[in-house]
Amino acid sequence: MTSRRNFLKKSGLFGSALMMPGFNRLEQLTKTGKSASNGRKPLIISTWRHGLAANERAWEVLHQTGSILDAVEEGVKITEVDLDNRSVGLNGYPDREGIVTLDASIMDGKSGDCGSVCFLRQVKHPITLARMVMEETPHVMLAGEGARQFAMEMGVPLEEEILHPDAEKEYLKWLEEREYRPVINIENHDTIGMVGVDSEGNLAGTCTTSGLAFKMHGRVGDSPIIGAGLYVDNEVGAATATGLGETIIKVCGSFLVVELMRQGRSPQQACEEAVNRLIEKNSENIEDMQAGFIAVNKEGEYGGYAVHPGFDFAVHHQDGNILEDSKSHFTNS
Ligand code: GLY
Repeated sequence: MTSRRNFLKKSGLFGSALMMPGFNRLEQLTKTGKSASNGRKPLIISTWRHGLAANERAWEVLHQTGSILDAVEEGVKITEVDLDNRSVGLNGYPDREGIVTLDASIMDGKSGDCGSVCFLRQVKHPITLARMVMEETPHVMLAGEGARQFAMEMGVPLEEEILHPDAEKEYLKWLEEREYRPVINIENHDTIGMVGVDSEGNLAGTCTTSGLAFKMHGRVGDSPIIGAGLYVDNEVGAATATGLGETIIKVCGSFLVVELMRQGRSPQQACEEAVNRLIEKNSENIEDMQAGFIAVNKEGEYGGYAVHPGFDFAVHHQDGNILEDSKSHFTNS
């Protein structure tokens, strides 16, 4: 792991640069005579308003450890234990049997390694277990009971299966009708996906969710599927997805965004083209579902785009942590 001092040196945050906002960009301008891109590095971007708090933590960890992988893991752990969040972690809505099951994935651009867990119960930080799958096993994905057993082997404590009172209330309400409608309301906050780039252009990403509210027991969404909910390639960039997982899996969404960037699209153009593809391939239920992508490239340029209005994402660079309204294919008017 890079030491803090080395990281500060490498990232241009050492000494006087600490007191000079915009130093990295200034350095870039000085070296090349003109800005190589509109990008800013380091940069961390994550889905939805809950991304603000997650970014804050990720930024802190990046500057403490110098590791973009540590940053994106620690960042989303904040959301995984957020008591107000019903779509990430054990405080999320249960499936239709009343059981909370979690999906998560992590990918390290530098090594190209990735890990994920899905249909997982009782683990407070599925993202950390996904990282353990990546680093401690020869596999990429562990599911269900096998993932839970692996957690126990790794000394990860299992939590009691008690629904958050608000989740229980909604579940009891849902039980009255038991109507199975696998849709994500377009205003719904769903999933945290986070991608980041350090000052040297190394990328990493994470994605974690409790999935669709009241889903079928055993249903797995896009978030733990490498290429669908998350994809990172250190040569190009990183992307992550949010929204109705089935629609995202059908187009291998995050991989598509990264491949479009490889072909020369900006992160914004790549997200727009991927959303348009997703709409083409899911035209029958497009009115009822939301999906979106965020992406960052190696230069620290970023973008985001969704099917419907209502999606926002949080962006942290050296000038601050801001929430941006995403552009979308459909508009309110
Ligand atoms: N995007 C999260 C899910 O569909 O489960």
